[in-house]
Amino acid sequence: MNILAFESSCDETAVAVVRDGREVLSSVVFSQIEMHKIYGGVVPEIASRSHLEVITPLAGEALRQAGLTVGDIDAVAVTCTPGLIGALLVGVSFAKSVAYALNVPLIPVHHIRGHIAANYIAFPELEPPFLALMVSGGNTLLADVRSYTDMTVLGSTRDDAAGECFDKVARVLGLGYPGGRALDELARTGSDTAYPLPRAHVTDAPLDMSFSGLKTAVINLIHNAEQKKESLDLPGLAASFSAAVSDILLTRTELALEQTGYDTLVAAGGVAANSRIRADLQRAMAGKKLYLPPLSLCGDNAAMIGAQAWYEYQAGRCADMTLNARAVCDAADF
Ligand code: KG4
Repeated sequence: MNILAFESSCDETAVAVVRDGREVLSSVVFSQIEMHKIYGGVVPEIASRSHLEVITPLAGEALRQAGLTVGDIDAVAVTCTPGLIGALLVGVSFAKSVAYALNVPLIPVHHIRGHIAANYIAFPELEPPFLALMVSGGNTLLADVRSYTDMTVLGSTRDDAAGECFDKVARVLGLGYPGGRALDELARTGSDTAYPLPRAHVTDAPLDMSFSGLKTAVINLIHNAEQKKESLDLPGLAASFSAAVSDILLTRTELALEQTGYDTLVAAGGVAANSRIRADLQRAMAGKKLYLPPLSLCGDNAAMIGAQAWYEYQAGRCADMTLNARAVCDAADF
Protein backbone atom coordinates (compact mmCIF):
# COMPACT_ATOMS: atom_id res chain seq x y z
CA MET A 1 0.00 0.00 0.00
CA ASN A 2 1.41 3.42 -1.03
CA ILE A 3 0.55 6.06 1.56
CA LEU A 4 0.92 9.77 0.74
CA ALA A 5 1.67 11.40 4.11
CA PHE A 6 1.54 15.02 5.26
CA GLU A 7 3.10 16.71 8.31
CA SER A 8 2.51 20.40 9.12
CA SER A 9 2.19 20.57 12.91
CA CYS A 10 4.81 23.26 13.50
CA ASP A 11 7.49 24.88 11.34
CA GLU A 12 8.22 22.13 8.82
CA THR A 13 6.02 21.30 5.86
CA ALA A 14 6.72 17.70 4.92
CA VAL A 15 5.31 15.22 2.42
CA ALA A 16 6.36 11.60 1.91
CA VAL A 17 5.33 8.45 0.14
CA VAL A 18 5.74 5.33 2.28
CA ARG A 19 5.05 1.77 1.12
CA ASP A 20 3.71 -0.74 3.65
CA GLY A 21 4.90 1.23 6.64
CA ARG A 22 8.61 0.62 6.29
CA GLU A 23 9.77 1.54 2.79
CA VAL A 24 10.22 5.26 2.18
CA LEU A 25 9.78 5.98 -1.53
CA SER A 26 10.26 9.73 -1.05
CA SER A 27 10.43 12.25 1.77
CA VAL A 28 10.60 16.00 1.26
CA VAL A 29 10.83 18.58 4.04
CA PHE A 30 10.58 22.35 3.77
CA SER A 31 11.90 24.04 6.90
CA GLN A 32 10.62 27.48 7.88
CA ILE A 33 13.45 28.14 10.33
CA GLU A 34 14.86 31.07 8.33
CA MET A 35 11.44 32.82 8.48
CA HIS A 36 11.07 32.49 12.25
CA LYS A 37 14.70 33.10 13.21
CA ILE A 38 14.42 36.88 13.43
CA TYR A 39 11.55 36.54 15.94
CA GLY A 40 13.46 34.08 18.14
CA GLY A 41 10.67 31.52 17.93
CA VAL A 42 7.89 30.17 15.73
CA VAL A 43 5.26 32.78 14.77
CA PRO A 44 2.05 30.72 14.34
CA GLU A 45 0.45 32.81 11.59
CA ILE A 46 3.62 32.93 9.51
CA ALA A 47 3.88 29.15 9.94
CA SER A 48 0.32 28.55 8.68
CA ARG A 49 0.75 30.83 5.69
CA SER A 50 4.02 29.20 4.70
CA HIS A 51 2.47 25.70 4.91
CA LEU A 52 -0.29 26.93 2.61
CA GLU A 53 2.20 28.21 0.04
CA VAL A 54 4.43 25.17 -0.18
CA ILE A 55 2.22 22.14 0.48
CA THR A 56 0.96 21.75 -3.12
CA PRO A 57 4.38 21.93 -4.83
CA LEU A 58 5.86 19.70 -2.11
CA ALA A 59 3.19 17.06 -2.72
CA GLY A 60 4.05 17.11 -6.43
CA GLU A 61 7.74 16.81 -5.61
CA ALA A 62 7.16 13.86 -3.25
CA LEU A 63 5.24 12.01 -5.99
CA ARG A 64 7.90 12.85 -8.58
CA GLN A 65 10.74 11.61 -6.35
CA ALA A 66 8.80 8.42 -5.62
CA GLY A 67 8.34 7.88 -9.37
CA LEU A 68 4.56 7.67 -8.87
CA THR A 69 1.44 9.53 -9.98
CA VAL A 70 -1.66 10.25 -7.91
CA GLY A 71 -3.26 7.13 -9.38
CA ASP A 72 -0.68 5.01 -7.51
CA ILE A 73 -1.68 6.39 -4.10
CA ASP A 74 -3.76 3.96 -2.00
CA ALA A 75 -4.31 6.13 1.09
CA VAL A 76 -3.60 9.58 2.50
CA ALA A 77 -2.23 10.17 6.01
CA VAL A 78 -1.93 13.38 7.98
CA THR A 79 -0.79 14.66 11.38
CA CYS A 80 -3.94 15.86 13.11
CA THR A 81 -2.67 16.50 16.68
CA PRO A 82 -0.86 17.97 18.66
CA GLY A 83 0.64 21.17 17.27
CA LEU A 84 -0.10 24.74 16.23
CA ILE A 85 -3.76 24.76 15.26
CA GLY A 86 -3.45 26.93 12.14
CA ALA A 87 -0.49 24.90 10.95
CA LEU A 88 -2.25 21.56 11.55
CA LEU A 89 -5.38 22.77 9.75
CA VAL A 90 -3.45 23.40 6.54
CA GLY A 91 -2.20 19.79 6.42
CA VAL A 92 -5.53 18.30 7.52
CA SER A 93 -7.55 20.32 4.98
CA PHE A 94 -5.16 19.52 2.16
CA ALA A 95 -5.03 15.81 3.03
CA LYS A 96 -8.83 15.63 3.20
CA SER A 97 -9.10 17.20 -0.24
CA VAL A 98 -6.61 14.75 -1.73
CA ALA A 99 -8.28 11.73 -0.11
CA TYR A 100 -11.70 12.94 -1.29
CA ALA A 101 -10.52 13.59 -4.84
CA LEU A 102 -8.76 10.23 -5.09
CA ASN A 103 -11.50 8.39 -3.20
CA VAL A 104 -8.94 6.66 -0.94
CA PRO A 105 -8.88 6.17 2.86
CA LEU A 106 -7.86 9.09 5.08
CA ILE A 107 -5.66 8.12 8.05
CA PRO A 108 -5.21 10.56 10.95
CA VAL A 109 -1.90 10.25 12.80
CA HIS A 110 -0.86 11.53 16.22
CA HIS A 111 2.39 13.48 15.81
CA ILE A 112 4.13 11.75 18.72
CA ARG A 113 3.14 8.28 17.49
CA GLY A 114 4.75 9.37 14.22
CA HIS A 115 8.01 10.30 15.93
CA ILE A 116 8.13 6.86 17.55
CA ALA A 117 7.40 5.21 14.18
CA ALA A 118 10.46 6.93 12.64
CA ASN A 119 12.31 4.02 14.24
CA TYR A 120 10.36 1.43 12.18
CA ILE A 121 11.89 3.03 9.09
CA ALA A 122 15.41 3.08 10.51
CA PHE A 123 15.30 -0.40 12.10
CA PRO A 124 13.43 -3.02 10.03
CA GLU A 125 13.66 -5.58 12.84
CA LEU A 126 12.05 -3.32 15.47
CA GLU A 127 8.63 -4.41 16.74
CA PRO A 128 6.64 -3.47 19.86
CA PRO A 129 6.47 -3.95 22.79
CA PHE A 130 9.02 -1.43 24.04
CA LEU A 131 9.45 1.70 26.11
CA ALA A 132 9.62 4.93 24.09
CA LEU A 133 11.35 8.11 25.20
CA MET A 134 10.02 10.91 23.05
CA VAL A 135 11.83 14.25 23.40
CA SER A 136 11.06 17.12 21.06
CA GLY A 137 10.53 20.86 20.93
CA GLY A 138 6.87 20.59 21.89
CA ASN A 139 6.59 17.34 23.85
CA THR A 140 8.55 15.20 26.29
CA LEU A 141 7.15 11.87 27.45
CA LEU A 142 7.70 8.21 28.19
CA ALA A 143 5.29 5.78 26.57
CA ASP A 144 4.54 2.11 27.04
CA VAL A 145 4.22 0.95 23.42
CA ARG A 146 2.41 -2.37 23.79
CA SER A 147 1.64 -2.72 20.10
CA TYR A 148 1.88 -0.51 17.00
CA THR A 149 -1.35 1.25 17.96
CA ASP A 150 -1.89 0.44 21.63
CA MET A 151 0.22 2.73 23.80
CA THR A 152 -0.08 4.76 26.98
CA VAL A 153 1.80 7.70 28.43
CA LEU A 154 3.65 6.68 31.61
CA GLY A 155 5.10 10.08 32.40
CA SER A 156 5.49 13.46 30.76
CA THR A 157 6.71 16.96 31.39
CA ARG A 158 4.60 19.09 33.68
CA ASP A 159 5.78 22.31 32.06
CA ASP A 160 8.30 22.94 29.27
CA ALA A 161 9.33 20.31 26.78
CA ALA A 162 13.05 19.53 26.88
CA GLY A 163 13.55 21.04 23.40
CA GLU A 164 11.78 24.23 24.40
CA CYS A 165 14.14 24.45 27.37
CA PHE A 166 17.19 23.93 25.11
CA ASP A 167 15.91 26.64 22.75
CA LYS A 168 15.19 29.20 25.48
CA VAL A 169 18.60 28.74 27.14
CA ALA A 170 20.30 28.86 23.74
CA ARG A 171 18.51 32.10 22.92
CA VAL A 172 19.70 33.76 26.13
CA LEU A 173 23.22 32.56 25.32
CA GLY A 174 22.90 34.27 21.91
CA LEU A 175 23.05 31.02 19.97
CA GLY A 176 20.11 31.82 17.65
CA TYR A 177 16.91 29.86 17.03
CA PRO A 178 16.31 26.98 17.32
CA GLY A 179 19.47 26.75 19.38
CA GLY A 180 19.35 23.15 20.64
CA ARG A 181 21.93 21.96 18.17
CA ALA A 182 24.27 24.94 18.68
CA LEU A 183 24.05 24.47 22.46
CA ASP A 184 24.88 20.79 21.98
CA GLU A 185 28.01 21.75 20.02
CA LEU A 186 29.08 24.35 22.60
CA ALA A 187 28.64 21.80 25.40
CA ARG A 188 31.09 19.36 23.81
CA THR A 189 34.10 21.41 24.90
CA GLY A 190 32.85 22.20 28.42
CA SER A 191 32.88 20.49 31.80
CA ASP A 192 29.50 19.19 32.95
CA THR A 193 30.39 19.97 36.57
CA ALA A 194 31.18 23.64 35.90
CA TYR A 195 27.85 24.84 37.36
CA PRO A 196 25.59 23.08 39.87
CA LEU A 197 22.08 23.08 38.39
CA PRO A 198 18.78 21.78 39.81
CA ARG A 199 17.08 18.52 38.80
CA ALA A 200 13.44 18.80 39.86
CA HIS A 201 11.33 15.84 40.95
CA VAL A 202 7.55 15.71 40.85
CA THR A 203 6.27 14.44 44.19
CA ASP A 204 3.95 11.42 43.82
CA ALA A 205 4.62 11.19 40.07
CA PRO A 206 8.16 9.84 39.77
CA LEU A 207 7.90 9.34 35.99
CA ASP A 208 6.84 12.93 35.35
CA MET A 209 9.42 15.59 34.55
CA SER A 210 9.85 19.32 34.99
CA PHE A 211 12.27 21.52 33.07
CA SER A 212 11.08 25.07 33.77
CA GLY A 213 13.00 25.42 37.07
CA LEU A 214 16.19 24.32 35.35
CA LYS A 215 15.59 26.77 32.52
CA THR A 216 14.96 29.63 34.97
CA ALA A 217 18.07 28.73 36.99
CA VAL A 218 20.29 28.97 33.90
CA ILE A 219 18.68 32.18 32.67
CA ASN A 220 19.01 33.79 36.13
CA LEU A 221 22.64 32.74 36.29
CA ILE A 222 23.32 34.40 32.93
CA HIS A 223 21.45 37.59 33.84
CA ASN A 224 23.20 37.85 37.23
CA ALA A 225 26.58 37.49 35.58
CA GLU A 226 25.66 40.16 33.03
CA GLN A 227 24.58 42.58 35.76
CA LYS A 228 27.79 42.02 37.73
CA LYS A 229 29.81 42.18 34.51
CA GLU A 230 31.27 38.76 35.30
CA SER A 231 32.24 36.45 32.49
CA LEU A 232 30.83 32.95 32.33
CA ASP A 233 32.38 29.68 31.26
CA LEU A 234 29.92 29.25 28.39
CA PRO A 235 30.96 25.75 27.26
CA GLY A 236 30.85 24.71 30.96
CA LEU A 237 27.38 26.19 31.37
CA ALA A 238 26.14 24.48 28.19
CA ALA A 239 27.63 21.17 29.34
CA SER A 240 26.20 21.48 32.87
CA PHE A 241 22.77 22.31 31.45
CA SER A 242 22.85 19.43 28.95
CA ALA A 243 23.91 17.05 31.73
CA ALA A 244 20.98 18.20 33.89
CA VAL A 245 18.46 17.64 31.08
CA SER A 246 19.97 14.27 30.34
CA ASP A 247 19.88 13.25 34.04
CA ILE A 248 16.19 14.18 34.29
CA LEU A 249 15.38 12.07 31.23
CA LEU A 250 17.60 9.19 32.22
CA THR A 251 16.36 8.74 35.80
CA ARG A 252 12.75 8.55 34.56
CA THR A 253 13.67 6.22 31.73
CA GLU A 254 15.50 3.84 34.05
CA LEU A 255 12.58 3.80 36.47
CA ALA A 256 10.09 3.20 33.64
CA LEU A 257 12.19 0.28 32.34
CA GLU A 258 12.21 -1.18 35.84
CA GLN A 259 8.45 -0.74 36.27
CA THR A 260 7.49 -2.14 32.87
CA GLY A 261 10.12 -4.88 32.78
CA TYR A 262 11.09 -3.95 29.21
CA ASP A 263 14.65 -4.33 28.05
CA THR A 264 14.07 -2.38 24.82
CA LEU A 265 14.16 1.41 24.66
CA VAL A 266 13.30 3.47 21.58
CA ALA A 267 14.27 7.15 21.50
CA ALA A 268 12.46 9.67 19.31
CA GLY A 269 12.08 13.38 18.57
CA GLY A 270 14.37 16.29 17.71
CA VAL A 271 16.16 16.30 21.07
CA ALA A 272 17.07 12.62 20.59
CA ALA A 273 19.75 14.10 18.28
CA ASN A 274 21.55 15.54 21.34
CA SER A 275 25.02 14.04 21.70
CA ARG A 276 25.05 14.06 25.50
CA ILE A 277 21.65 12.39 25.75
CA ARG A 278 22.62 9.79 23.13
CA ALA A 279 25.88 8.99 24.95
CA ASP A 280 24.15 8.73 28.34
CA LEU A 281 21.42 6.48 26.93
CA GLN A 282 24.03 4.24 25.30
CA ARG A 283 25.85 3.89 28.61
CA ALA A 284 22.68 3.27 30.60
CA MET A 285 21.37 0.70 28.10
CA ALA A 286 24.55 -1.39 27.93
CA GLY A 287 23.45 -5.04 27.72
CA LYS A 288 19.90 -4.02 26.76
CA LYS A 289 18.41 -2.99 23.39
CA LEU A 290 18.55 0.68 22.48
CA TYR A 291 17.20 2.17 19.24
CA LEU A 292 18.46 5.67 18.50
CA PRO A 293 17.04 7.04 15.26
CA PRO A 294 19.52 8.54 12.78
CA LEU A 295 19.67 12.34 13.02
CA SER A 296 17.78 12.63 9.72
CA LEU A 297 14.73 10.94 11.31
CA CYS A 298 14.82 12.72 14.70
CA GLY A 299 13.26 15.99 13.51
CA ASP A 300 9.81 16.49 11.97
CA ASN A 301 9.22 14.66 8.67
CA ALA A 302 6.31 13.02 6.89
CA ALA A 303 7.94 9.62 6.38
CA MET A 304 7.34 8.88 10.08
CA ILE A 305 3.67 9.84 9.63
CA GLY A 306 3.38 7.48 6.65
CA ALA A 307 5.02 4.70 8.69
CA GLN A 308 2.64 5.01 11.64
CA ALA A 309 -0.33 5.45 9.27
CA TRP A 310 0.20 1.94 7.88
CA TYR A 311 -0.35 0.46 11.35
CA GLU A 312 -3.25 2.81 12.14
CA TYR A 313 -4.89 1.69 8.89
CA GLN A 314 -4.50 -1.97 9.78
CA ALA A 315 -6.12 -1.26 13.15
CA GLY A 316 -9.06 0.26 11.27
CA ARG A 317 -8.37 3.78 12.51
CA CYS A 318 -9.41 5.76 9.44
CA ALA A 319 -11.25 9.08 9.44
CA ASP A 320 -14.15 10.43 7.44
CA MET A 321 -14.48 13.90 5.93
CA THR A 322 -15.36 15.41 9.32
CA LEU A 323 -11.75 14.97 10.53
CA ASN A 324 -10.58 18.02 12.47
CA ALA A 325 -7.24 19.12 13.91
CA ARG A 326 -6.60 19.45 17.64
CA ALA A 327 -3.85 21.68 19.05
CA VAL A 328 -3.70 19.85 22.36
CA CYS A 329 -4.09 16.18 22.99
CA ASP A 330 -4.10 14.96 26.57
CA ALA A 331 -2.41 11.77 27.70
CA ALA A 332 -5.70 9.81 27.73
CA ASP A 333 -6.14 10.36 23.97
CA PHE A 334 -2.60 9.40 23.03
O1 KG4 B 1 11.04 16.91 16.80
P1 KG4 B 1 11.31 18.31 16.41
O2 KG4 B 1 11.91 18.58 15.05
O3 KG4 B 1 10.03 19.19 16.48
C1 KG4 B 1 8.98 18.95 17.34
O4 KG4 B 1 8.15 18.05 17.03
O5 KG4 B 1 8.95 19.65 18.38
O6 KG4 B 1 12.27 18.90 17.53
C2 KG4 B 1 12.82 20.18 17.46
C3 KG4 B 1 13.59 20.45 18.75
C4 KG4 B 1 14.05 21.89 18.86
O7 KG4 B 1 13.74 22.33 20.16
C5 KG4 B 1 15.55 21.78 18.65
O8 KG4 B 1 16.31 22.80 19.29
C6 KG4 B 1 15.83 20.44 19.27
O9 KG4 B 1 14.77 19.63 18.80
N1 KG4 B 1 17.13 19.87 18.87
C7 KG4 B 1 18.14 19.62 19.74
C8 KG4 B 1 19.20 19.11 18.97
N2 KG4 B 1 18.82 19.05 17.67
C9 KG4 B 1 17.53 19.52 17.63
N3 KG4 B 1 18.20 19.81 21.07
C10 KG4 B 1 19.35 19.46 21.68
N4 KG4 B 1 20.42 18.96 21.02
C11 KG4 B 1 20.41 18.78 19.69
N5 KG4 B 1 21.45 18.27 19.04
